[in-house]
Amino acid sequence: IDELLAEGVAGKRVFVRADLNVPLDGALITDDGRIRAVLPTIKALVDADAKVIVASHLGRPKGAPDPAFSLLPAAERLAELLGKPVAFAQDTVGPAAHDAVNGLEPGQVAVIENLRFNAGETSKDDVERGEFADRLAALADVYVGDGFGAVHRKHASVVDLPARLPHYAGYLIATEVGVLKKLTSEVERPYAVVLGGAKVSDKLGVIDHLLDKADRILIGGGMAYTFLKAQGHEVGTSLLQEDQVPKVQEYLERAKAKGVEFVLPVDILVAAEFPDLKTKAPANPGTVAADAVPAGQMGLDIGPETRKLYASKLADAETVFWNGPMGVFEHPDYAEGTRAVAQALLDSPAFTVVGGGDSAAAVRILGFDENAFGHISTGGGASLEYLEGKTLPGLAALEG
Ligand code: 3PG
Repeated sequence: IDELLAEGVAGKRVFVRADLNVPLDGALITDDGRIRAVLPTIKALVDADAKVIVASHLGRPKGAPDPAFSLLPAAERLAELLGKPVAFAQDTVGPAAHDAVNGLEPGQVAVIENLRFNAGETSKDDVERGEFADRLAALADVYVGDGFGAVHRKHASVVDLPARLPHYAGYLIATEVGVLKKLTSEVERPYAVVLGGAKVSDKLGVIDHLLDKADRILIGGGMAYTFLKAQGHEVGTSLLQEDQVPKVQEYLERAKAKGVEFVLPVDILVAAEFPDLKTKAPANPGTVAADAVPAGQMGLDIGPETRKLYASKLADAETVFWNGPMGVFEHPDYAEGTRAVAQALLDSPAFTVVGGGDSAAAVRILGFDENAFGHISTGGGASLEYLEGKTLPGLAALEG
Protein backbone atom coordinates (compact mmCIF):
# COMPACT_ATOMS: atom_id res chain seq x y z
CA ILE A 1 0.00 0.00 0.00
CA ASP A 2 2.95 2.35 0.55
CA GLU A 3 3.62 2.08 -3.18
CA LEU A 4 0.02 3.08 -3.90
CA LEU A 5 0.21 5.98 -1.47
CA ALA A 6 3.46 7.14 -3.06
CA GLU A 7 1.79 7.11 -6.50
CA GLY A 8 -1.03 9.19 -5.06
CA VAL A 9 -4.66 8.19 -4.60
CA ALA A 10 -6.34 11.57 -4.17
CA GLY A 11 -9.85 11.38 -5.57
CA LYS A 12 -9.48 7.70 -6.56
CA ARG A 13 -12.09 5.14 -5.54
CA VAL A 14 -10.22 2.55 -3.46
CA PHE A 15 -11.95 -0.73 -2.64
CA VAL A 16 -10.67 -2.11 0.69
CA ARG A 17 -11.53 -5.79 1.15
CA ALA A 18 -11.50 -6.04 4.95
CA ASP A 19 -12.53 -8.84 7.30
CA LEU A 20 -15.14 -7.18 9.52
CA ASN A 21 -16.56 -10.59 10.46
CA VAL A 22 -16.91 -9.68 14.14
CA PRO A 23 -18.77 -11.66 16.82
CA LEU A 24 -22.22 -10.20 17.42
CA ASP A 25 -24.78 -10.54 20.17
CA GLY A 26 -27.84 -9.29 18.29
CA ALA A 27 -26.63 -5.97 16.87
CA LEU A 28 -24.00 -5.60 19.60
CA ILE A 29 -20.37 -6.23 18.65
CA THR A 30 -18.78 -8.30 21.43
CA ASP A 31 -15.22 -7.94 20.10
CA ASP A 32 -14.19 -5.21 17.64
CA GLY A 33 -10.60 -6.39 17.21
CA ARG A 34 -10.98 -7.06 13.51
CA ILE A 35 -12.34 -3.56 12.87
CA ARG A 36 -9.49 -1.94 14.80
CA ALA A 37 -6.97 -4.09 12.95
CA VAL A 38 -7.82 -2.58 9.57
CA LEU A 39 -7.85 1.05 10.77
CA PRO A 40 -4.22 1.85 9.80
CA THR A 41 -4.98 1.06 6.16
CA ILE A 42 -8.27 2.96 6.11
CA LYS A 43 -6.78 5.96 7.91
CA ALA A 44 -3.81 6.10 5.54
CA LEU A 45 -6.19 6.14 2.56
CA VAL A 46 -8.40 8.78 4.17
CA ASP A 47 -5.35 10.94 4.88
CA ALA A 48 -4.30 10.53 1.27
CA ASP A 49 -7.73 11.84 0.15
CA ALA A 50 -8.89 8.59 -1.42
CA LYS A 51 -12.59 7.78 -1.72
CA VAL A 52 -12.60 4.68 0.45
CA ILE A 53 -15.06 1.83 -0.10
CA VAL A 54 -14.88 -0.78 2.67
CA ALA A 55 -16.30 -4.24 1.98
CA SER A 56 -16.46 -7.47 3.99
CA HIS A 57 -18.43 -10.60 4.65
CA LEU A 58 -20.09 -11.23 8.00
CA GLY A 59 -21.16 -14.69 9.12
CA ARG A 60 -22.44 -17.20 6.63
CA PRO A 61 -25.71 -15.94 5.11
CA LYS A 62 -27.07 -18.04 2.26
CA GLY A 63 -26.24 -15.83 -0.73
CA ALA A 64 -29.23 -13.52 -0.20
CA PRO A 65 -29.91 -10.51 2.04
CA ASP A 66 -30.51 -11.49 5.66
CA PRO A 67 -30.87 -8.71 8.26
CA ALA A 68 -29.29 -10.90 10.95
CA PHE A 69 -25.99 -10.62 9.05
CA SER A 70 -26.05 -6.92 8.14
CA LEU A 71 -22.72 -5.09 8.26
CA LEU A 72 -24.43 -1.96 9.61
CA PRO A 73 -23.22 -2.48 13.23
CA ALA A 74 -19.64 -2.88 11.95
CA ALA A 75 -20.00 0.28 9.82
CA GLU A 76 -21.23 2.22 12.85
CA ARG A 77 -18.34 0.98 14.96
CA LEU A 78 -15.90 1.88 12.19
CA ALA A 79 -17.30 5.42 12.18
CA GLU A 80 -16.78 5.66 15.95
CA LEU A 81 -13.22 4.38 15.72
CA LEU A 82 -12.35 6.67 12.81
CA GLY A 83 -14.04 9.60 14.51
CA LYS A 84 -15.79 10.58 11.30
CA PRO A 85 -19.03 9.71 9.52
CA VAL A 86 -19.14 6.55 7.41
CA ALA A 87 -21.80 6.15 4.72
CA PHE A 88 -23.57 2.79 4.63
CA ALA A 89 -25.04 1.25 1.48
CA GLN A 90 -27.89 -1.17 2.02
CA ASP A 91 -26.86 -3.26 -0.95
CA THR A 92 -23.51 -4.45 -2.27
CA VAL A 93 -23.45 -3.77 -6.02
CA GLY A 94 -26.91 -2.26 -6.55
CA PRO A 95 -28.13 1.34 -6.75
CA ALA A 96 -27.49 2.03 -3.05
CA ALA A 97 -23.82 1.05 -3.37
CA HIS A 98 -23.41 3.19 -6.50
CA ASP A 99 -25.14 6.14 -4.83
CA ALA A 100 -22.92 5.81 -1.75
CA VAL A 101 -19.75 5.65 -3.83
CA ASN A 102 -20.84 8.49 -6.13
CA GLY A 103 -21.56 10.57 -3.05
CA LEU A 104 -18.03 10.19 -1.64
CA GLU A 105 -15.78 13.23 -1.48
CA PRO A 106 -12.00 12.67 -1.26
CA GLY A 107 -11.13 11.46 2.26
CA GLN A 108 -14.59 10.03 2.91
CA VAL A 109 -15.53 6.42 3.66
CA ALA A 110 -18.46 4.20 2.68
CA VAL A 111 -19.19 0.64 3.79
CA ILE A 112 -21.20 -1.55 1.43
CA GLU A 113 -23.50 -4.33 2.69
CA ASN A 114 -22.32 -7.90 3.39
CA LEU A 115 -20.63 -9.36 0.30
CA ARG A 116 -22.18 -12.76 1.06
CA PHE A 117 -25.69 -11.40 0.42
CA ASN A 118 -24.74 -12.23 -3.18
CA ALA A 119 -24.44 -15.86 -4.27
CA GLY A 120 -21.60 -14.89 -6.62
CA GLU A 121 -19.27 -14.06 -3.73
CA THR A 122 -18.78 -17.64 -2.51
CA SER A 123 -19.76 -19.51 -5.69
CA LYS A 124 -17.61 -22.46 -6.75
CA ASP A 125 -18.41 -21.55 -10.35
CA ASP A 126 -15.68 -19.31 -11.82
CA VAL A 127 -18.13 -17.61 -14.19
CA GLU A 128 -20.63 -16.76 -11.47
CA ARG A 129 -17.87 -15.42 -9.21
CA GLY A 130 -16.41 -13.49 -12.14
CA GLU A 131 -19.75 -11.84 -12.90
CA PHE A 132 -20.06 -10.66 -9.31
CA ALA A 133 -16.44 -9.47 -9.35
CA ASP A 134 -17.21 -7.44 -12.52
CA ARG A 135 -20.03 -5.70 -10.68
CA LEU A 136 -17.77 -4.97 -7.70
CA ALA A 137 -15.02 -3.71 -10.02
CA ALA A 138 -17.45 -1.15 -11.46
CA LEU A 139 -17.46 0.55 -8.05
CA ALA A 140 -13.72 1.21 -7.80
CA ASP A 141 -10.44 2.21 -9.48
CA VAL A 142 -8.02 0.41 -7.16
CA TYR A 143 -8.16 -2.66 -4.87
CA VAL A 144 -6.49 -2.99 -1.48
CA GLY A 145 -6.61 -6.46 0.08
CA ASP A 146 -6.52 -6.24 3.87
CA GLY A 147 -8.97 -8.92 5.02
CA PHE A 148 -6.38 -11.34 6.33
CA GLY A 149 -9.04 -13.52 8.01
CA ALA A 150 -10.52 -14.36 4.60
CA VAL A 151 -7.41 -14.89 2.44
CA HIS A 152 -7.86 -18.66 2.60
CA ARG A 153 -11.21 -18.32 0.80
CA LYS A 154 -11.42 -18.50 -2.98
CA HIS A 155 -14.17 -15.91 -3.08
CA ALA A 156 -15.00 -13.23 -5.65
CA SER A 157 -13.91 -10.25 -3.56
CA VAL A 158 -10.74 -12.03 -2.43
CA VAL A 159 -9.50 -13.58 -5.66
CA ASP A 160 -11.46 -12.45 -8.74
CA LEU A 161 -11.75 -8.76 -7.95
CA PRO A 162 -8.01 -8.08 -7.52
CA ALA A 163 -7.51 -9.70 -10.93
CA ARG A 164 -9.68 -6.92 -12.39
CA LEU A 165 -8.12 -3.87 -10.73
CA PRO A 166 -4.65 -2.58 -9.83
CA HIS A 167 -4.13 -4.32 -6.48
CA TYR A 168 -2.09 -3.83 -3.33
CA ALA A 169 -1.77 -5.45 0.10
CA GLY A 170 -2.82 -3.39 3.12
CA TYR A 171 -0.89 -2.95 6.35
CA LEU A 172 -2.73 -5.70 8.25
CA ILE A 173 -1.96 -8.38 5.68
CA ALA A 174 1.68 -7.28 5.58
CA THR A 175 1.95 -7.53 9.38
CA GLU A 176 0.17 -10.88 9.65
CA VAL A 177 2.26 -12.47 6.92
CA GLY A 178 5.45 -11.10 8.45
CA VAL A 179 4.69 -12.71 11.82
CA LEU A 180 3.48 -16.05 10.48
CA LYS A 181 6.50 -16.28 8.21
CA LYS A 182 8.65 -16.26 11.35
CA LEU A 183 6.79 -19.34 12.61
CA THR A 184 7.39 -21.23 9.40
CA SER A 185 11.11 -20.52 9.16
CA GLU A 186 13.70 -21.13 11.89
CA VAL A 187 12.00 -20.74 15.26
CA GLU A 188 13.55 -20.39 18.71
CA ARG A 189 13.09 -23.64 20.64
CA PRO A 190 11.34 -25.12 22.52
CA TYR A 191 8.43 -24.39 20.17
CA ALA A 192 5.12 -25.14 21.87
CA VAL A 193 1.77 -25.15 20.11
CA VAL A 194 -1.55 -25.00 21.95
CA LEU A 195 -4.55 -26.16 19.96
CA GLY A 196 -8.15 -26.01 21.12
CA GLY A 197 -11.56 -25.29 19.69
CA ALA A 198 -14.41 -27.55 18.83
CA LYS A 199 -13.43 -29.60 15.85
CA VAL A 200 -10.36 -31.74 15.47
CA SER A 201 -11.04 -32.02 11.74
CA ASP A 202 -10.26 -28.28 11.34
CA LYS A 203 -6.84 -28.83 12.88
CA LEU A 204 -5.64 -32.04 11.22
CA GLY A 205 -3.75 -30.23 8.46
CA VAL A 206 -1.89 -28.02 10.85
CA ILE A 207 -1.09 -30.90 13.24
CA ASP A 208 0.27 -32.89 10.30
CA HIS A 209 2.56 -29.99 9.42
CA LEU A 210 3.52 -29.17 13.01
CA LEU A 211 4.74 -32.71 13.68
CA ASP A 212 7.81 -31.64 11.65
CA LYS A 213 8.14 -28.27 13.39
CA ALA A 214 6.96 -28.16 16.99
CA ASP A 215 8.55 -29.67 20.09
CA ARG A 216 5.33 -30.03 22.03
CA ILE A 217 1.64 -29.82 21.15
CA LEU A 218 -0.88 -29.15 23.93
CA ILE A 219 -4.47 -30.10 23.20
CA GLY A 220 -7.62 -28.66 24.78
CA GLY A 221 -11.16 -27.63 23.89
CA GLY A 222 -13.75 -29.84 22.25
CA MET A 223 -11.13 -31.50 20.07
CA ALA A 224 -9.40 -32.97 23.14
CA TYR A 225 -12.12 -35.61 23.51
CA THR A 226 -11.31 -37.16 20.15
CA PHE A 227 -7.70 -37.41 21.37
CA LEU A 228 -8.80 -38.98 24.66
CA LYS A 229 -10.97 -41.44 22.75
CA ALA A 230 -8.00 -42.26 20.51
CA GLN A 231 -6.12 -43.21 23.68
CA GLY A 232 -8.90 -45.61 24.56
CA HIS A 233 -10.79 -43.51 27.11
CA GLU A 234 -14.55 -43.10 27.29
CA VAL A 235 -15.67 -39.49 26.90
CA GLY A 236 -19.36 -39.61 27.91
CA THR A 237 -21.42 -37.15 25.86
CA SER A 238 -18.45 -34.85 25.13
CA LEU A 239 -17.90 -33.53 21.63
CA LEU A 240 -16.42 -36.39 19.65
CA GLN A 241 -15.46 -36.85 16.02
CA GLU A 242 -15.45 -40.64 15.97
CA ASP A 243 -14.45 -40.77 12.29
CA GLN A 244 -11.25 -38.86 13.09
CA VAL A 245 -10.09 -41.29 15.81
CA PRO A 246 -7.88 -43.41 13.47
CA LYS A 247 -6.19 -40.29 12.07
CA VAL A 248 -5.54 -38.97 15.57
CA GLN A 249 -4.09 -42.36 16.59
CA GLU A 250 -1.77 -42.16 13.60
CA TYR A 251 -0.63 -38.67 14.66
CA LEU A 252 -0.02 -39.81 18.23
CA GLU A 253 2.20 -42.61 16.92
CA ARG A 254 4.04 -40.36 14.47
CA ALA A 255 4.66 -37.85 17.27
CA LYS A 256 6.17 -40.56 19.43
CA ALA A 257 8.47 -41.65 16.61
CA LYS A 258 9.59 -38.07 15.98
CA GLY A 259 10.04 -37.15 19.63
CA VAL A 260 7.24 -34.55 19.54
CA GLU A 261 5.43 -34.44 22.86
CA PHE A 262 1.62 -34.45 22.75
CA VAL A 263 0.22 -33.12 26.01
CA LEU A 264 -3.40 -34.06 26.71
CA PRO A 265 -5.69 -33.01 29.57
CA VAL A 266 -5.29 -34.99 32.79
CA ASP A 267 -8.51 -33.68 34.32
CA ILE A 268 -11.59 -31.96 32.98
CA LEU A 269 -14.66 -30.06 34.09
CA VAL A 270 -17.86 -31.94 33.33
CA ALA A 271 -21.62 -31.41 33.53
CA ALA A 272 -24.70 -33.21 32.29
CA GLU A 273 -25.70 -30.27 30.08
CA PHE A 274 -24.19 -27.59 27.91
CA PRO A 275 -24.32 -24.30 29.88
CA ASP A 276 -26.76 -21.50 29.11
CA LEU A 277 -24.59 -18.85 27.47
CA LYS A 278 -27.36 -16.25 27.52
CA THR A 279 -28.26 -16.28 31.23
CA LYS A 280 -24.83 -17.60 32.28
CA ALA A 281 -26.65 -19.35 35.12
CA PRO A 282 -24.20 -21.22 37.40
CA ALA A 283 -23.39 -24.60 35.88
CA ASN A 284 -21.78 -26.22 38.96
CA PRO A 285 -19.42 -28.45 37.01
CA GLY A 286 -17.66 -31.43 38.54
CA THR A 287 -13.97 -32.22 38.11
CA VAL A 288 -13.02 -35.72 36.91
CA ALA A 289 -9.87 -37.44 35.75
CA ALA A 290 -9.58 -37.29 31.96
CA ASP A 291 -9.72 -41.08 31.71
CA ALA A 292 -12.87 -41.28 33.85
CA VAL A 293 -15.59 -39.15 32.24
CA PRO A 294 -18.84 -40.65 33.55
CA ALA A 295 -21.50 -41.77 31.06
CA GLY A 296 -24.03 -38.98 30.48
CA GLN A 297 -21.51 -36.21 31.32
CA MET A 298 -19.72 -33.91 28.88
CA GLY A 299 -16.35 -32.24 29.21
CA LEU A 300 -16.55 -28.43 28.95
CA ASP A 301 -13.13 -27.16 30.05
CA ILE A 302 -9.72 -28.44 31.10
CA GLY A 303 -9.43 -29.00 34.87
CA PRO A 304 -7.15 -27.41 37.50
CA GLU A 305 -4.35 -30.02 37.25
CA THR A 306 -4.29 -29.61 33.48
CA ARG A 307 -4.11 -25.83 33.86
CA LYS A 308 -0.98 -26.25 35.99
CA LEU A 309 0.48 -28.83 33.63
CA TYR A 310 -0.06 -26.64 30.56
CA ALA A 311 1.38 -23.57 32.31
CA SER A 312 4.51 -25.59 33.14
CA LYS A 313 4.81 -26.78 29.53
CA LEU A 314 4.65 -23.18 28.33
CA ALA A 315 6.92 -21.67 30.98
CA ASP A 316 10.22 -22.55 29.28
CA ALA A 317 9.05 -22.27 25.67
CA GLU A 318 10.80 -19.77 23.41
CA THR A 319 8.08 -19.74 20.76
CA VAL A 320 4.36 -20.36 21.24
CA PHE A 321 1.50 -20.52 18.77
CA TRP A 322 -1.98 -20.77 20.26
CA ASN A 323 -5.19 -21.39 18.35
CA GLY A 324 -8.54 -22.22 19.91
CA PRO A 325 -10.05 -21.91 23.39
CA MET A 326 -9.59 -24.64 26.01
CA GLY A 327 -13.26 -24.75 26.97
CA VAL A 328 -16.59 -22.96 26.71
CA PHE A 329 -14.94 -19.71 27.81
CA GLU A 330 -18.11 -17.70 27.08
CA HIS A 331 -19.48 -19.12 30.36
CA PRO A 332 -17.62 -18.03 33.51
CA ASP A 333 -17.60 -21.57 34.96
CA TYR A 334 -15.67 -22.82 31.92
CA ALA A 335 -13.35 -19.88 31.27
CA GLU A 336 -10.48 -20.82 33.60
CA GLY A 337 -8.69 -23.16 31.20
CA THR A 338 -8.54 -20.55 28.45
CA ARG A 339 -7.61 -17.88 31.00
CA ALA A 340 -4.77 -20.05 32.34
CA VAL A 341 -3.29 -20.55 28.87
CA ALA A 342 -3.53 -16.81 28.13
CA GLN A 343 -1.86 -16.04 31.47
CA ALA A 344 0.88 -18.63 30.84
CA LEU A 345 1.61 -16.96 27.51
CA LEU A 346 1.88 -13.59 29.23
CA ASP A 347 4.17 -14.99 31.94
CA SER A 348 6.48 -16.64 29.44
CA PRO A 349 9.28 -14.72 27.73
CA ALA A 350 8.47 -16.59 24.52
CA PHE A 351 7.56 -15.02 21.21
CA THR A 352 3.81 -15.66 21.28
CA VAL A 353 1.33 -15.69 18.46
CA VAL A 354 -2.37 -16.02 19.21
CA GLY A 355 -4.16 -17.11 16.08
CA GLY A 356 -7.81 -17.49 15.47
CA GLY A 357 -10.92 -15.42 15.67
CA ASP A 358 -12.04 -17.33 18.78
CA SER A 359 -8.84 -17.32 20.81
CA ALA A 360 -8.18 -13.69 19.91
CA ALA A 361 -11.71 -12.78 21.01
CA ALA A 362 -11.30 -14.90 24.16
CA VAL A 363 -8.16 -13.01 25.16
CA ARG A 364 -9.96 -9.68 24.89
CA ILE A 365 -13.29 -10.84 26.33
CA LEU A 366 -11.47 -12.29 29.37
CA GLY A 367 -9.99 -8.85 29.93
CA PHE A 368 -6.33 -9.37 28.98
CA ASP A 369 -4.34 -6.53 27.51
CA GLU A 370 -3.94 -7.59 23.89
CA ASN A 371 -0.82 -5.46 23.51
CA ALA A 372 0.97 -7.65 26.04
CA PHE A 373 0.95 -10.58 23.59
CA GLY A 374 3.53 -10.90 20.83
CA HIS A 375 0.95 -10.90 18.08
CA ILE A 376 -2.78 -11.54 17.99
CA SER A 377 -3.75 -12.68 14.54
CA THR A 378 -7.10 -11.70 13.06
CA GLY A 379 -7.11 -14.93 11.07
CA GLY A 380 -8.50 -18.23 12.33
CA GLY A 381 -8.63 -20.59 9.37
CA ALA A 382 -6.30 -18.27 7.45
CA SER A 383 -3.47 -18.44 10.00
CA LEU A 384 -3.87 -22.21 10.36
CA GLU A 385 -3.72 -22.73 6.61
CA TYR A 386 -0.70 -20.45 6.37
CA LEU A 387 1.08 -22.58 8.98
CA GLU A 388 0.07 -25.70 7.06
CA GLY A 389 2.20 -24.32 4.24
CA LYS A 390 -0.75 -23.96 1.89
CA THR A 391 -0.91 -21.33 -0.82
CA LEU A 392 -3.58 -18.90 0.29
CA PRO A 393 -5.65 -17.74 -2.71
CA GLY A 394 -6.12 -14.21 -1.37
CA LEU A 395 -2.36 -13.71 -0.91
CA ALA A 396 -1.54 -15.22 -4.29
CA ALA A 397 -4.06 -12.84 -5.89
CA LEU A 398 -2.26 -9.84 -4.43
CA GLU A 399 1.12 -11.02 -5.65
CA GLY A 400 0.01 -11.67 -9.23
C1 3PG B 1 -13.12 -16.18 9.88
O1 3PG B 1 -13.89 -15.82 10.78
O2 3PG B 1 -12.28 -17.11 10.04
C2 3PG B 1 -13.12 -15.43 8.59
O3 3PG B 1 -13.83 -14.24 8.71
C3 3PG B 1 -13.64 -16.30 7.47
O4 3PG B 1 -14.97 -16.64 7.71
P1 3PG B 1 -15.58 -17.97 7.08
O5 3PG B 1 -14.96 -19.13 7.80
O6 3PG B 1 -17.07 -17.88 7.26
O7 3PG B 1 -15.19 -18.00 5.61
